[in-house]
Amino acid sequence: MESEDSSWLQSLQSSFCFPFFVTISFSLLLFLLRRNNLWCNCNVCRSYLTSSWSIEFDNLCDWYTHLLRTSPSQTIHIHVLRNTITANPDNVEYMLKTRFENYPKGKPFSLILGDLLGRGIFNVDGDSWKFQRKMASLELGSLPIRSFAFEIVTTEIQHRLLPLLSSVAGKKNGVLDLQDVFRRFSFDNICRFLFGLDPGCLELSLPMSDLAVAFDLASKLSAERAMMASPWIWKIKRLLNLGTEKKLKEAIAMINTLAEEVMRQKRKKGFATHQDLLSRFMSTVCDDKYLRDIVISFLLAGRDTVASALTSFFWLLAKNPEVKSAIRAESDRVMGPCQELASFEQIREMHYLQAAVYECLRLYPPVQFDSKFAQEDDILPDGTSVTRGTRVTYHPYAMGRMEEVWGPDCHDFIPERWLKNGIFYPESPYKCPVFQAGLRVCLGKEMALVEMKTVALSLLRRFDIDLAKPNGSLRFAPGLTATISGGLCVLIREMRTS
Ligand code: HEM
Repeated sequence: MESEDSSWLQSLQSSFCFPFFVTISFSLLLFLLRRNNLWCNCNVCRSYLTSSWSIEFDNLCDWYTHLLRTSPSQTIHIHVLRNTITANPDNVEYMLKTRFENYPKGKPFSLILGDLLGRGIFNVDGDSWKFQRKMASLELGSLPIRSFAFEIVTTEIQHRLLPLLSSVAGKKNGVLDLQDVFRRFSFDNICRFLFGLDPGCLELSLPMSDLAVAFDLASKLSAERAMMASPWIWKIKRLLNLGTEKKLKEAIAMINTLAEEVMRQKRKKGFATHQDLLSRFMSTVCDDKYLRDIVISFLLAGRDTVASALTSFFWLLAKNPEVKSAIRAESDRVMGPCQELASFEQIREMHYLQAAVYECLRLYPPVQFDSKFAQEDDILPDGTSVTRGTRVTYHPYAMGRMEEVWGPDCHDFIPERWLKNGIFYPESPYKCPVFQAGLRVCLGKEMALVEMKTVALSLLRRFDIDLAKPNGSLRFAPGLTATISGGLCVLIREMRTS
Protein backbone atom coordinates (compact mmCIF):
# COMPACT_ATOMS: atom_id res chain seq x y z
CA MET A 1 0.00 0.00 0.00
CA GLU A 2 2.78 2.27 1.01
CA SER A 3 4.68 1.67 -2.21
CA GLU A 4 1.50 2.17 -4.21
CA ASP A 5 0.95 5.43 -2.41
CA SER A 6 4.47 6.61 -2.98
CA SER A 7 4.39 5.65 -6.67
CA TRP A 8 1.11 7.51 -6.94
CA LEU A 9 2.73 10.47 -5.23
CA GLN A 10 5.82 10.24 -7.41
CA SER A 11 3.80 10.10 -10.57
CA LEU A 12 1.68 13.00 -9.34
CA GLN A 13 4.82 14.93 -8.57
CA SER A 14 6.31 14.30 -11.94
CA SER A 15 3.16 14.83 -13.98
CA PHE A 16 1.39 17.48 -11.96
CA CYS A 17 2.98 18.66 -8.74
CA PHE A 18 6.10 20.35 -10.03
CA PRO A 19 4.29 22.43 -12.66
CA PHE A 20 1.55 22.94 -10.11
CA PHE A 21 4.09 24.29 -7.63
CA VAL A 22 5.62 26.54 -10.28
CA THR A 23 2.18 27.77 -11.31
CA ILE A 24 1.22 28.49 -7.70
CA SER A 25 4.51 30.30 -7.05
CA PHE A 26 4.18 32.26 -10.28
CA SER A 27 0.58 33.19 -9.47
CA LEU A 28 1.62 34.23 -5.98
CA LEU A 29 4.43 36.34 -7.42
CA LEU A 30 2.03 37.94 -9.90
CA PHE A 31 -0.45 38.53 -7.12
CA LEU A 32 2.21 40.25 -4.99
CA LEU A 33 3.55 42.24 -7.92
CA ARG A 34 0.02 43.27 -8.90
CA ARG A 35 -0.95 44.04 -5.33
CA ASN A 36 2.08 46.30 -5.06
CA ASN A 37 1.45 47.55 -8.60
CA LEU A 38 4.87 46.42 -9.77
CA TRP A 39 3.49 44.47 -12.67
CA CYS A 40 0.54 45.02 -14.95
CA ASN A 41 -0.12 43.77 -18.42
CA CYS A 42 -2.16 46.68 -19.77
CA ASN A 43 -0.83 48.36 -22.94
CA VAL A 44 0.30 51.49 -21.17
CA CYS A 45 2.17 49.69 -18.36
CA ARG A 46 3.77 47.26 -20.81
CA SER A 47 4.89 50.18 -22.93
CA TYR A 48 6.34 51.89 -19.84
CA LEU A 49 8.12 48.80 -18.54
CA THR A 50 9.61 47.83 -21.91
CA SER A 51 10.26 51.48 -22.98
CA SER A 52 8.50 50.67 -26.25
CA TRP A 53 6.97 54.18 -26.17
CA SER A 54 10.38 55.42 -27.33
CA ILE A 55 9.83 53.89 -30.80
CA GLU A 56 7.23 56.57 -31.51
CA PHE A 57 8.17 59.41 -29.14
CA ASP A 58 11.42 61.31 -28.50
CA ASN A 59 10.66 61.97 -24.85
CA LEU A 60 8.68 60.34 -22.06
CA CYS A 61 6.84 63.66 -21.59
CA ASP A 62 5.72 63.54 -25.26
CA TRP A 63 4.28 60.06 -24.75
CA TYR A 64 2.45 61.17 -21.59
CA THR A 65 1.15 64.18 -23.53
CA HIS A 66 -0.20 61.88 -26.21
CA LEU A 67 -1.94 59.69 -23.59
CA LEU A 68 -3.40 62.73 -21.81
CA ARG A 69 -4.62 64.32 -25.04
CA THR A 70 -6.47 61.14 -25.95
CA SER A 71 -7.99 60.62 -22.50
CA PRO A 72 -11.55 62.02 -22.29
CA SER A 73 -10.94 63.21 -18.71
CA GLN A 74 -7.40 64.49 -19.47
CA THR A 75 -6.22 62.18 -16.70
CA ILE A 76 -4.45 58.81 -16.89
CA HIS A 77 -3.21 56.22 -14.42
CA ILE A 78 0.07 54.34 -14.79
CA HIS A 79 -0.64 51.26 -12.68
CA VAL A 80 2.95 50.08 -12.25
CA LEU A 81 3.97 53.47 -10.90
CA ARG A 82 0.78 53.86 -8.89
CA ASN A 83 0.72 57.28 -10.48
CA THR A 84 -2.34 59.27 -11.54
CA ILE A 85 -1.28 61.93 -14.03
CA THR A 86 -3.52 64.84 -14.92
CA ALA A 87 -3.57 67.71 -17.40
CA ASN A 88 -7.01 68.84 -16.30
CA PRO A 89 -6.96 72.43 -14.88
CA ASP A 90 -9.90 71.70 -12.54
CA ASN A 91 -7.99 68.80 -10.99
CA VAL A 92 -4.88 70.96 -10.68
CA GLU A 93 -6.78 73.71 -8.85
CA TYR A 94 -8.35 71.09 -6.61
CA MET A 95 -5.05 69.51 -5.55
CA LEU A 96 -3.01 72.72 -5.27
CA LYS A 97 -5.65 74.89 -3.61
CA THR A 98 -9.06 73.46 -2.70
CA ARG A 99 -7.76 70.26 -1.04
CA PHE A 100 -4.18 71.35 -0.57
CA GLU A 101 -3.86 69.54 2.76
CA ASN A 102 -4.77 66.20 1.13
CA TYR A 103 -1.96 66.49 -1.45
CA PRO A 104 1.32 67.08 0.40
CA LYS A 105 4.70 66.27 -1.08
CA GLY A 106 4.48 63.13 1.02
CA LYS A 107 6.92 60.65 2.44
CA PRO A 108 7.93 58.83 -0.78
CA PHE A 109 9.05 62.13 -2.32
CA SER A 110 10.90 63.33 0.76
CA LEU A 111 12.66 59.96 0.95
CA ILE A 112 13.80 60.19 -2.67
CA LEU A 113 15.21 63.69 -2.28
CA GLY A 114 15.91 63.50 1.45
CA ASP A 115 19.62 62.72 1.17
CA LEU A 116 20.21 65.74 -1.06
CA LEU A 117 17.67 68.25 0.25
CA GLY A 118 17.26 67.19 3.88
CA ARG A 119 14.66 69.39 5.59
CA GLY A 120 14.87 72.18 2.98
CA ILE A 121 11.65 73.90 1.84
CA PHE A 122 11.34 71.77 -1.30
CA ASN A 123 11.23 68.59 0.68
CA VAL A 124 9.00 69.20 3.67
CA ASP A 125 5.35 69.64 4.57
CA GLY A 126 3.56 70.93 7.65
CA ASP A 127 5.13 73.26 10.20
CA SER A 128 8.67 73.07 8.86
CA TRP A 129 7.39 74.12 5.41
CA LYS A 130 5.26 76.93 6.90
CA PHE A 131 8.22 78.31 8.86
CA GLN A 132 10.57 78.37 5.84
CA ARG A 133 7.88 79.65 3.49
CA LYS A 134 7.11 82.57 5.80
CA MET A 135 10.74 83.44 6.31
CA ALA A 136 11.62 83.10 2.62
CA SER A 137 8.61 85.02 1.33
CA LEU A 138 9.40 87.93 3.65
CA GLU A 139 12.94 88.01 2.27
CA LEU A 140 12.21 87.41 -1.40
CA GLY A 141 9.29 89.82 -1.46
CA SER A 142 11.30 92.73 -0.03
CA LEU A 143 12.43 95.56 -2.29
CA PRO A 144 16.07 95.62 -1.10
CA ILE A 145 16.54 91.94 -1.90
CA ARG A 146 14.93 92.30 -5.32
CA SER A 147 17.23 95.18 -6.21
CA PHE A 148 20.16 93.16 -4.84
CA ALA A 149 19.19 90.28 -7.17
CA PHE A 150 18.76 92.63 -10.14
CA GLU A 151 22.15 94.20 -9.50
CA ILE A 152 23.83 90.77 -9.44
CA VAL A 153 22.21 89.79 -12.74
CA THR A 154 23.11 93.02 -14.55
CA THR A 155 26.72 92.88 -13.31
CA GLU A 156 27.10 89.28 -14.47
CA ILE A 157 25.63 90.19 -17.88
CA GLN A 158 27.84 93.23 -18.36
CA HIS A 159 31.09 91.83 -17.08
CA ARG A 160 30.87 88.20 -18.13
CA LEU A 161 27.98 87.21 -20.44
CA LEU A 162 28.29 89.94 -23.09
CA PRO A 163 32.11 89.79 -23.25
CA LEU A 164 31.96 86.01 -23.54
CA LEU A 165 29.52 86.04 -26.46
CA SER A 166 31.46 88.88 -28.10
CA SER A 167 34.65 86.85 -27.94
CA VAL A 168 32.99 84.02 -29.86
CA ALA A 169 30.85 86.11 -32.25
CA GLY A 170 31.68 85.86 -35.92
CA LYS A 171 34.61 83.50 -35.37
CA LYS A 172 35.04 80.63 -37.80
CA ASN A 173 33.83 77.50 -36.02
CA GLY A 174 32.50 79.83 -33.35
CA VAL A 175 29.90 77.39 -32.07
CA LEU A 176 28.82 77.82 -28.47
CA ASP A 177 26.67 75.59 -26.28
CA LEU A 178 24.17 78.15 -25.04
CA GLN A 179 22.69 75.74 -22.48
CA ASP A 180 26.11 75.33 -20.87
CA VAL A 181 26.57 79.13 -20.86
CA PHE A 182 23.18 79.69 -19.20
CA ARG A 183 23.82 76.99 -16.60
CA ARG A 184 27.14 78.59 -15.67
CA PHE A 185 25.56 82.05 -15.72
CA SER A 186 22.69 81.07 -13.43
CA PHE A 187 25.00 79.17 -11.09
CA ASP A 188 27.16 82.29 -10.62
CA ASN A 189 24.04 84.38 -10.02
CA ILE A 190 22.33 82.09 -7.55
CA CYS A 191 25.56 81.54 -5.54
CA ARG A 192 26.13 85.28 -5.28
CA PHE A 193 22.50 85.76 -4.31
CA LEU A 194 22.42 82.91 -1.79
CA PHE A 195 25.92 82.95 -0.30
CA GLY A 196 27.42 86.25 -1.39
CA LEU A 197 30.20 84.23 -3.07
CA ASP A 198 31.22 84.27 -6.71
CA PRO A 199 32.22 80.88 -8.16
CA GLY A 200 33.17 82.53 -11.49
CA CYS A 201 31.79 79.64 -13.57
CA LEU A 202 31.12 81.79 -16.61
CA GLU A 203 34.81 81.92 -17.41
CA LEU A 204 34.59 79.10 -19.97
CA SER A 205 38.32 78.50 -19.75
CA LEU A 206 37.86 77.53 -16.09
CA PRO A 207 36.41 74.19 -15.05
CA MET A 208 32.96 74.23 -13.47
CA SER A 209 33.20 74.69 -9.71
CA ASP A 210 33.35 71.52 -7.61
CA LEU A 211 30.06 72.50 -6.02
CA ALA A 212 28.34 72.82 -9.42
CA VAL A 213 29.65 69.44 -10.59
CA ALA A 214 28.67 67.67 -7.36
CA PHE A 215 25.30 69.39 -7.36
CA ASP A 216 24.56 68.38 -10.98
CA LEU A 217 25.45 64.78 -10.29
CA ALA A 218 23.45 64.62 -7.06
CA SER A 219 20.33 66.12 -8.74
CA LYS A 220 20.59 63.73 -11.68
CA LEU A 221 21.02 60.65 -9.52
CA SER A 222 18.23 61.70 -7.14
CA ALA A 223 15.88 62.16 -10.14
CA GLU A 224 16.79 58.67 -11.35
CA ARG A 225 15.55 57.25 -8.05
CA ALA A 226 12.09 58.65 -8.83
CA MET A 227 11.97 56.87 -12.18
CA MET A 228 12.53 53.39 -10.77
CA ALA A 229 9.55 51.05 -10.82
CA SER A 230 10.08 50.29 -7.12
CA PRO A 231 11.80 52.36 -4.41
CA TRP A 232 13.26 49.11 -3.05
CA ILE A 233 15.75 49.04 -5.91
CA TRP A 234 17.53 52.24 -4.86
CA LYS A 235 17.01 51.55 -1.16
CA ILE A 236 18.84 48.21 -1.43
CA LYS A 237 21.59 49.79 -3.54
CA ARG A 238 21.95 52.52 -0.92
CA LEU A 239 22.12 50.00 1.88
CA LEU A 240 24.88 48.11 0.07
CA ASN A 241 26.55 51.35 -1.12
CA LEU A 242 26.52 50.20 -4.74
CA GLY A 243 26.74 51.87 -8.17
CA THR A 244 24.74 55.08 -8.57
CA GLU A 245 23.91 55.17 -4.86
CA LYS A 246 27.62 55.13 -4.00
CA LYS A 247 28.17 58.02 -6.43
CA LEU A 248 25.21 59.92 -4.97
CA LYS A 249 26.60 59.51 -1.47
CA GLU A 250 29.99 60.84 -2.59
CA ALA A 251 28.44 63.82 -4.41
CA ILE A 252 26.34 64.72 -1.35
CA ALA A 253 29.40 64.43 0.90
CA MET A 254 31.19 66.92 -1.38
CA ILE A 255 28.20 69.32 -1.26
CA ASN A 256 28.14 69.08 2.55
CA THR A 257 31.86 69.79 2.88
CA LEU A 258 31.60 72.85 0.63
CA ALA A 259 28.45 74.11 2.38
CA GLU A 260 30.16 73.76 5.78
CA GLU A 261 33.14 75.69 4.47
CA VAL A 262 30.87 78.50 3.18
CA MET A 263 29.22 78.80 6.61
CA ARG A 264 32.55 78.73 8.42
CA GLN A 265 33.82 81.58 6.23
CA LYS A 266 30.63 83.56 6.79
CA ARG A 267 30.87 83.21 10.56
CA LYS A 268 34.53 84.24 10.43
CA LYS A 269 33.84 87.35 8.35
CA GLY A 270 30.60 88.23 10.14
CA PHE A 271 27.26 88.14 8.39
CA ALA A 272 25.11 90.77 10.10
CA THR A 273 25.61 93.45 7.43
CA HIS A 274 25.55 91.19 4.38
CA GLN A 275 22.64 91.11 1.93
CA ASP A 276 22.83 87.52 0.68
CA LEU A 277 20.09 85.10 1.68
CA LEU A 278 22.31 82.84 3.79
CA SER A 279 23.47 85.78 5.93
CA ARG A 280 19.85 86.77 6.45
CA PHE A 281 18.84 83.24 7.43
CA MET A 282 21.88 82.91 9.69
CA SER A 283 20.56 85.63 11.93
CA THR A 284 17.42 83.55 12.69
CA VAL A 285 18.60 79.92 12.38
CA CYS A 286 21.53 78.54 14.42
CA ASP A 287 21.50 74.87 13.35
CA ASP A 288 24.14 74.50 10.58
CA LYS A 289 22.58 71.35 9.12
CA TYR A 290 19.23 73.11 8.82
CA LEU A 291 20.88 76.16 7.22
CA ARG A 292 22.61 73.87 4.74
CA ASP A 293 19.26 72.25 3.85
CA ILE A 294 17.55 75.62 3.41
CA VAL A 295 20.12 77.00 0.96
CA ILE A 296 20.51 73.76 -1.01
CA SER A 297 16.77 73.84 -1.79
CA PHE A 298 17.18 77.40 -3.06
CA LEU A 299 20.15 76.38 -5.14
CA LEU A 300 18.05 73.69 -6.79
CA ALA A 301 15.06 76.02 -7.17
CA GLY A 302 16.84 78.95 -8.70
CA ARG A 303 19.64 77.58 -10.77
CA ASP A 304 18.58 74.96 -13.30
CA THR A 305 15.07 76.33 -13.75
CA VAL A 306 16.23 79.71 -15.06
CA ALA A 307 18.93 78.15 -17.25
CA SER A 308 16.39 75.70 -18.69
CA ALA A 309 13.86 78.45 -19.43
CA LEU A 310 16.47 80.66 -21.14
CA THR A 311 17.73 77.76 -23.25
CA SER A 312 14.30 76.89 -24.62
CA PHE A 313 13.53 80.59 -25.11
CA PHE A 314 16.51 80.99 -27.45
CA TRP A 315 15.60 77.76 -29.24
CA LEU A 316 12.08 79.08 -29.86
CA LEU A 317 13.33 82.53 -30.91
CA ALA A 318 15.70 81.00 -33.45
CA LYS A 319 12.74 79.08 -34.90
CA ASN A 320 10.43 82.14 -34.83
CA PRO A 321 12.40 85.16 -36.15
CA GLU A 322 9.23 87.32 -36.29
CA VAL A 323 9.00 87.12 -32.48
CA LYS A 324 12.65 88.12 -32.19
CA SER A 325 12.00 91.20 -34.38
CA ALA A 326 8.90 92.14 -32.36
CA ILE A 327 10.88 91.97 -29.08
CA ARG A 328 13.63 94.14 -30.57
CA ALA A 329 11.09 96.66 -31.88
CA GLU A 330 9.38 96.90 -28.49
CA SER A 331 12.69 97.36 -26.67
CA ASP A 332 13.78 100.08 -29.14
CA ARG A 333 10.51 101.87 -28.42
CA VAL A 334 10.97 101.67 -24.63
CA MET A 335 14.76 102.03 -24.32
CA GLY A 336 15.81 103.74 -27.52
CA PRO A 337 18.27 102.01 -29.85
CA CYS A 338 21.56 102.51 -27.95
CA GLN A 339 21.04 101.70 -24.26
CA GLU A 340 22.70 98.37 -23.42
CA LEU A 341 20.79 97.12 -20.37
CA ALA A 342 17.17 97.75 -19.49
CA SER A 343 16.24 99.20 -16.11
CA PHE A 344 13.79 97.48 -13.75
CA GLU A 345 11.05 99.97 -14.72
CA GLN A 346 11.68 99.62 -18.47
CA ILE A 347 11.37 95.84 -18.22
CA ARG A 348 7.96 96.22 -16.61
CA GLU A 349 6.80 98.27 -19.59
CA MET A 350 7.60 95.54 -22.13
CA HIS A 351 4.38 93.56 -22.40
CA TYR A 352 5.26 91.74 -25.60
CA LEU A 353 8.49 90.45 -24.03
CA GLN A 354 6.57 89.23 -20.98
CA ALA A 355 4.06 87.49 -23.28
CA ALA A 356 6.87 85.81 -25.24
CA VAL A 357 8.48 84.55 -22.02
CA TYR A 358 5.18 83.11 -20.77
CA GLU A 359 4.53 81.52 -24.14
CA CYS A 360 7.94 79.85 -23.93
CA LEU A 361 7.23 78.59 -20.40
CA ARG A 362 3.85 77.23 -21.54
CA LEU A 363 5.51 75.12 -24.23
CA TYR A 364 8.73 74.28 -22.39
CA PRO A 365 8.18 74.44 -18.63
CA PRO A 366 11.48 73.89 -16.79
CA VAL A 367 9.63 71.68 -14.29
CA GLN A 368 7.76 69.40 -16.69
CA PHE A 369 5.76 67.57 -14.05
CA ASP A 370 5.29 67.72 -10.31
CA SER A 371 3.93 65.06 -7.95
CA LYS A 372 2.08 64.96 -4.64
CA PHE A 373 0.90 61.96 -2.60
CA ALA A 374 -2.75 61.60 -1.59
CA GLN A 375 -3.16 61.56 2.16
CA GLU A 376 -6.70 60.08 2.10
CA ASP A 377 -9.00 58.47 -0.50
CA ASP A 378 -10.50 61.14 -2.72
CA ILE A 379 -12.33 61.86 -5.98
CA LEU A 380 -10.92 64.48 -8.33
CA PRO A 381 -13.29 66.97 -10.03
CA ASP A 382 -13.17 64.96 -13.30
CA GLY A 383 -14.47 61.88 -11.43
CA THR A 384 -11.12 60.06 -11.12
CA SER A 385 -10.90 58.04 -7.88
CA VAL A 386 -7.70 58.40 -5.94
CA THR A 387 -6.80 55.95 -3.20
CA ARG A 388 -4.73 56.92 -0.20
CA GLY A 389 -0.98 56.84 -0.94
CA THR A 390 -1.40 57.28 -4.70
CA ARG A 391 1.07 59.56 -6.39
CA VAL A 392 -0.88 62.33 -8.16
CA THR A 393 1.06 64.27 -10.76
CA TYR A 394 0.08 67.42 -12.64
CA HIS A 395 1.91 67.80 -15.93
CA PRO A 396 2.57 71.39 -17.11
CA TYR A 397 4.37 70.15 -20.27
CA ALA A 398 1.29 68.23 -21.41
CA MET A 399 -1.06 70.99 -20.23
CA GLY A 400 0.60 73.44 -22.62
CA ARG A 401 -0.30 71.08 -25.46
CA MET A 402 -3.98 70.46 -24.68
CA GLU A 403 -6.29 71.60 -27.46
CA GLU A 404 -9.21 71.89 -25.01
CA VAL A 405 -7.22 74.48 -23.06
CA TRP A 406 -5.24 76.41 -25.70
CA GLY A 407 -7.09 75.74 -28.94
CA PRO A 408 -6.00 74.00 -32.15
CA ASP A 409 -2.82 76.13 -32.45
CA CYS A 410 -1.60 74.92 -29.03
CA HIS A 411 1.67 73.63 -30.52
CA ASP A 412 2.58 77.01 -32.02
CA PHE A 413 4.65 79.72 -30.37
CA ILE A 414 2.27 82.70 -30.38
CA PRO A 415 3.03 85.36 -27.71
CA GLU A 416 -0.08 87.29 -28.81
CA ARG A 417 -2.28 84.74 -27.02
CA TRP A 418 -1.13 86.39 -23.76
CA LEU A 419 -2.00 89.96 -24.85
CA LYS A 420 -5.23 91.96 -24.79
CA ASN A 421 -4.96 95.30 -26.61
CA GLY A 422 -1.18 95.10 -26.27
CA ILE A 423 -1.28 94.56 -22.50
CA PHE A 424 -0.09 91.30 -20.91
CA TYR A 425 -3.05 89.29 -19.70
CA PRO A 426 -2.18 86.41 -17.35
CA GLU A 427 -4.12 83.17 -17.76
CA SER A 428 -5.30 81.17 -14.74
CA PRO A 429 -2.20 79.64 -13.07
CA TYR A 430 -4.11 76.34 -12.91
CA LYS A 431 -4.20 76.25 -16.73
CA CYS A 432 -0.49 76.92 -16.92
CA PRO A 433 1.07 75.87 -13.58
CA VAL A 434 4.69 76.38 -14.64
CA PHE A 435 5.48 78.04 -11.32
CA GLN A 436 3.11 75.65 -9.58
CA ALA A 437 0.08 77.55 -8.20
CA GLY A 438 -1.98 77.88 -5.04
CA LEU A 439 -0.42 77.76 -1.59
CA ARG A 440 2.99 76.49 -2.67
CA VAL A 441 3.43 78.72 -5.72
CA CYS A 442 7.10 79.37 -6.59
CA LEU A 443 8.66 82.03 -4.37
CA GLY A 444 11.20 83.09 -6.99
CA LYS A 445 8.72 83.65 -9.83
CA GLU A 446 9.13 87.44 -10.12
CA MET A 447 12.89 87.21 -9.72
CA ALA A 448 13.11 84.52 -12.37
CA LEU A 449 11.00 86.49 -14.85
CA VAL A 450 13.13 89.62 -14.40
CA GLU A 451 16.32 87.59 -14.80
CA MET A 452 15.07 85.89 -17.96
CA LYS A 453 13.89 89.13 -19.53
CA THR A 454 17.08 91.05 -18.68
CA VAL A 455 19.29 88.34 -20.17
CA ALA A 456 17.13 87.86 -23.27
CA LEU A 457 17.02 91.59 -24.02
CA SER A 458 20.72 92.12 -23.55
CA LEU A 459 21.57 89.31 -25.97
CA LEU A 460 18.86 89.98 -28.54
CA ARG A 461 19.76 93.66 -28.84
CA ARG A 462 23.39 92.90 -29.55
CA PHE A 463 23.64 89.51 -31.24
CA ASP A 464 22.05 87.37 -33.89
CA ILE A 465 21.89 83.87 -32.48
CA ASP A 466 21.09 80.97 -34.80
CA LEU A 467 20.93 77.26 -34.26
CA ALA A 468 24.00 75.33 -35.42
CA LYS A 469 21.65 72.45 -36.37
CA PRO A 470 18.39 74.16 -37.38
CA ASN A 471 16.43 70.99 -38.13
CA GLY A 472 16.80 69.01 -34.93
CA SER A 473 14.00 68.43 -32.43
CA LEU A 474 14.46 68.70 -28.66
CA ARG A 475 15.40 65.63 -26.69
CA PHE A 476 15.50 65.95 -22.93
CA ALA A 477 17.91 64.23 -20.57
CA PRO A 478 16.39 62.69 -17.42
CA GLY A 479 16.64 65.05 -14.46
CA LEU A 480 14.69 67.19 -12.01
CA THR A 481 14.62 70.10 -14.48
CA ALA A 482 14.22 69.99 -18.26
CA THR A 483 17.68 69.82 -19.82
CA ILE A 484 18.37 69.38 -23.53
CA SER A 485 20.37 66.27 -24.20
CA GLY A 486 23.58 67.32 -25.98
CA GLY A 487 23.06 71.02 -25.20
CA LEU A 488 21.98 73.86 -27.51
CA CYS A 489 24.71 74.63 -30.01
CA VAL A 490 24.39 78.07 -31.62
CA LEU A 491 26.24 80.38 -34.01
CA ILE A 492 26.67 83.95 -32.83
CA ARG A 493 27.08 87.12 -34.86
CA GLU A 494 27.42 90.64 -33.45
CA MET A 495 24.72 92.89 -34.95
CA ARG A 496 26.47 96.22 -34.55
CA THR A 497 29.97 97.22 -33.59
CA SER A 498 29.99 100.15 -31.21
C1 HEM B 1 11.86 79.96 -14.61
C2 HEM B 1 12.25 79.75 -13.37
C3 HEM B 1 11.49 78.99 -12.32
C4 HEM B 1 10.48 78.08 -12.45
C5 HEM B 1 9.83 77.57 -13.74
C6 HEM B 1 10.12 77.64 -11.13
C7 HEM B 1 9.13 76.70 -10.85
C8 HEM B 1 8.83 76.25 -9.59
C9 HEM B 1 7.92 75.16 -9.30
C10 HEM B 1 7.17 74.32 -10.33
C11 HEM B 1 7.87 75.01 -7.96
C12 HEM B 1 7.09 73.95 -7.17
C13 HEM B 1 8.01 72.78 -6.93
C14 HEM B 1 7.44 71.79 -5.98
O1 HEM B 1 6.76 72.14 -5.01
O2 HEM B 1 7.69 70.60 -6.18
C15 HEM B 1 8.74 76.02 -7.38
C16 HEM B 1 8.93 76.19 -6.03
C17 HEM B 1 9.83 77.07 -5.50
N1 HEM B 1 10.63 77.95 -6.18
FE1 HEM B 1 10.67 78.23 -8.17
N2 HEM B 1 10.90 78.29 -10.22
C18 HEM B 1 11.76 79.13 -10.90
C19 HEM B 1 12.73 79.94 -10.35
C20 HEM B 1 12.93 80.13 -9.01
C21 HEM B 1 13.93 81.02 -8.43
C22 HEM B 1 14.89 81.90 -9.22
C23 HEM B 1 13.84 80.89 -7.07
C24 HEM B 1 14.59 81.56 -5.97
C25 HEM B 1 15.77 81.96 -5.96
C26 HEM B 1 12.78 79.93 -6.81
C27 HEM B 1 12.38 79.55 -5.55
C28 HEM B 1 11.41 78.61 -5.28
C29 HEM B 1 11.11 78.13 -3.94
C30 HEM B 1 11.76 78.57 -2.64
C31 HEM B 1 10.11 77.17 -4.08
C32 HEM B 1 9.44 76.34 -2.97
C33 HEM B 1 8.10 76.94 -2.61
C34 HEM B 1 7.36 76.12 -1.57
O3 HEM B 1 7.53 74.91 -1.50
O4 HEM B 1 6.60 76.73 -0.82
N3 HEM B 1 12.25 79.51 -8.00
N4 HEM B 1 9.30 76.75 -8.39
